[in-house]
Parts: sequence; structure tokens; C-alpha cells
Amino acid sequence: MILETKNLEFSYPDGTLAIDDISITIPEGKKISFVGKNGSGKSTLFLLLNGTLKPKKGKVLFDGKEVNYSSSGLRELRKKVGIVFQNSDDQLFAPTVYQDIAFGPLNLGYSKEEVNHVVNQMLDHFGLHHLKDKPPHHLSGGQKKRVAIAGVLAMDPDIIILDEPLSNLDPVGADEILDILNELNGLGKTIIISTHDVDLAYKWSDYVYLLSSSKLVNEGAPGIVFSNEGEIRNSALKSPFILDVYRELEKRWLAAGNAQPKDIPELVQLLRSIDLMRVDAGPEITVGECVNLGVLFGEFTKEGLYEAVNSRVLFKNDDGTVVVELKRRVLKPGAIYVYDMDCFDKDELDKIIKEHDIDHIGAMGKKSKDIAESADICIVCNSGVIDKSILNAITGSRCLILTSSGMVPHTAKRIRGYIQNSGIRLIFNPVGKSAIELDSQKEGQRKSQEEDQKENET
Ligand SMILES: Nc1ncnc2c1ncn2[C@@H]1O[C@H](COP(=O)(O)OP(=O)(O)OP(=O)(O)O)[C@@H](O)[C@H]1O
Ligand SMILES: [Mg+2]
Repeated sequence: MILETKNLEFSYPDGTLAIDDISITIPEGKKISFVGKNGSGKSTLFLLLNGTLKPKKGKVLFDGKEVNYSSSGLRELRKKVGIVFQNSDDQLFAPTVYQDIAFGPLNLGYSKEEVNHVVNQMLDHFGLHHLKDKPPHHLSGGQKKRVAIAGVLAMDPDIIILDEPLSNLDPVGADEILDILNELNGLGKTIIISTHDVDLAYKWSDYVYLLSSSKLVNEGAPGIVFSNEGEIRNSALKSPFILDVYRELEKRWLAAGNAQPKDIPELVQLLRSIDLMRVDAGPEITVGECVNLGVLFGEFTKEGLYEAVNSRVLFKNDDGTVVVELKRRVLKPGAIYVYDMDCFDKDELDKIIKEHDIDHIGAMGKKSKDIAESADICIVCNSGVIDKSILNAITGSRCLILTSSGMVPHTAKRIRGYIQNSGIRLIFNPVGKSAIELDSQKEGQRKSQEEDQKENET
């Protein structure tokens, strides 16, 4: 089922030529964006696509047939082609949100139960249940937008046209709407949007149309349309941010050439690995020597790559720097385990050390150190134990922290906080009795939260 226009032309009654000879073919099941500056004709074209406006010249075809502008013909077309207007106030008119969303399905002849089912589904999807009895004109801009989109989706059209769907939405709300649109597209719906957000059009779309002064000036895959910098500039748009960054990296030989990365992982894939590096070195370092580069805390190993940065000195400069060739080695993710020495059991601890293949053992607190010493456990670290364990773990080591009861939750909180904030993948596990205690504490916290919640509700 495709939507087409052929040499479409439209002027408003005051004589403004808003669409000038536009021919497009919208393929089924794709995500399409129309981009163009204010007044370029996007909204007018959308109104022509679902028959709200009638062209002066040229035609609109749906599924190969010219649109029939009789009221029954238009009803048929609008069943298949739903449109969400740029301005929600043009769309919402019923006394309540519920009735507004129900309007379309009722008109399509759904039974009362079917209407109720679909409206509730939409209220759930768009997080609108709490607003269902409010008049739409008492809602915020973003809430109105959600109701307008929900009302169109409730009719289950095959082609969904959304004029600036993300305007007025907060970033999380915008992501939620995009998720819904992507989900619908996954179910086979054709999604057409207009947007000034070049980053969105570039990243999200399968195909982009660029309008300027009522004309179609370019179309194609987003990488192609947005690569034409001059045309983008002439259309009062700008390059997607990720393409700008990529071009700057490419100019400096830091990224592989002639690509169009869509997102950060794609960009990262294109980065050239640095094989040679200029680093500060002491006078004792000699050419040919193998040295180990200091790794800045967290920096080198972000995003879960654990690298031991070894290098060979190739050249010594007069200014005290040397040029080294990097040799990298990817290691398994490191790990940190915590053991509660208040419940010390030599056999259990030996088993844990063996089972988890521990490289470094650190002890926190006098009591833990004393017990470890008297039990002949080899402690390699007894100060700054948490930080050192993290540093060892991010370069691939497996660490065990011995501590006593009171310190176990604190240790767990610090390490979990680090893992969460840094995004570095590390294994962290309390072991032995500590594991049981922390689990029961979590259970206790959960119960008390539930009780608080119940109290608030009553
Ligand atoms: N009702 C109207 N009467 C006369 N001219 C109109 C009317 N609506 C729009 N226009 C004109 O038609 C042209 C195209 O407007 P349109 O609303 O389609 O642009 P747009 O690309 O959607 O812009 P925006 O990005 O601001 O939403 C503009 O020059 C505009 O001034
Ligand atoms: Mg518009």
C-alpha cells in the first residue's frame, strides 16, 4: 500500500503557492522524514496526503488509485491514512481526553467494548490514565500532543503521518513516542513525520525528503541527503551533530574515511586505533625498552574494555618525551568480591579464593587484618582497599576484600556506585555470609518501602 503524489501543486486562497510541482512515492513499511525550514510546505503537503486539502494541479494516489474527494472516498482514505496535526488544538475538541481518543474508533463503527478496550490501551501506552476525564484544552502542550497521537493511533491506520510529533515533548517523553512509532513500524506501519530536528531525521529515518520554498529539492537515504552540506545550509538547516564530529575527526586522520555514522557506537567503530603515542618519560628510559604506561583512573577502560597498556620505546625526543608503540591485550572483565571476616571460616575462605581465581586480596579494618594474618592469608593491600580493588579490577584482576560486618554494606554501596556511574562492566559479588546478609538487608529495605507506600496510600 503506497502513497504517491504526481506533479502536485497547491495554492492557498490568498494566492500563496505552498506546494510547487511535487512528485513523491512513499514506500510501504518505511520510516520517512520531511525536513525543511519554516514555511517550506511540509504541513500543506501532509494535509494534501490525507485529503484534507485538494490539489489545484496534479494528483495524490493511494494504493495506485487517485484519491476520491467525495465524503465516502475521504472516509475510506482517512481510515488508512491517519494524521496528527502540528498544532494539537486543531485536533482535540471532545469534552474529555477519553472521549477524544474514543471519537475515531466510534466513527469507524467499533462496538462499545472494542472502543473501551482500544481507548484503555492507548491511555496505558501514553501514560494518560490520570488525565482521562480532563478537558483536552486544560492539558499542557506535551500532554495534548500525546492525546492527539493516541487518538490517531486508536484508529489503527496503515500509514501514520505526524507533523512535528516531538515538538513540546520533554526528552524522555519524546523517546517514549519514538519507541511507540518504532514499535508500530516494526508491525508494518508506514510512519511519516516532519521535523526540524536534523539529528532525529538523520538517525531515525529510512528515507528523507528535503523541501525548500514549496519545492522538493532532494530525497534519498539520510546519509546521502545530509552529506550535501551546501544544500542543507541553503535550506536553513544544519548538519547532524554526529556527522560534524565525524568530519572533524576524519580531517585529523582520527577516523576512517567516507562513512556516515548514525550513532555513537557507529562513530566509535570508525575511530582509528592509536598505535603510536608520545608520552612523558624519565631520563632512565632507553630506546627499545618495554615499559608499561600509566592508566588514568577509569579513563582508558571506560565502556568495559579492559586493557593492559604495554608499550615499546621507539624514539627519544630532546624534550624528555618518548614515542612508544602500543601493544594492547584485551583481558577478561575484572571482579571484586567481599567477604565478612566476622563469620571467618578458613575452609570456606580458601574455597572462595580458589573458586573465584582471586589475584589480589585486601583487608579493611584492624580486626580483618589480624584474623587474616593469624590464618596465614596473603594480604597484598591493606590501605585504600576499595579504590585499589577497583583499579585492579578495571585492568582485569580478580580481587577479594576482607572486611567486617559493619563495613560490608558501605563497601558494597561504594563499589556498586562506581560501577553504575562509570559504566564499566565489572563483576561485583558479596560472598559467603556477606552475600546472605546483604540479601536480607535488601529484602528488609524493600519491605519497609512497601509499608511506607501502603501508609501513603491509606
Ligand atoms: N491558511 C493559509 N493561508 C495562506 N497561506 C498559508 C496558509 N497556511 C500556510 N500558508 C503558507 O504556505 C506556505 C507553506 O506553509 P506550511 O505550513 O506548509 O509550511 P511548513 O513547512 O509546515 O512550516 P513550519 O516548519 O513552520 O511548520 C507558507 O508560505 C505559509 O505562509
Ligand atoms: Mg508545518
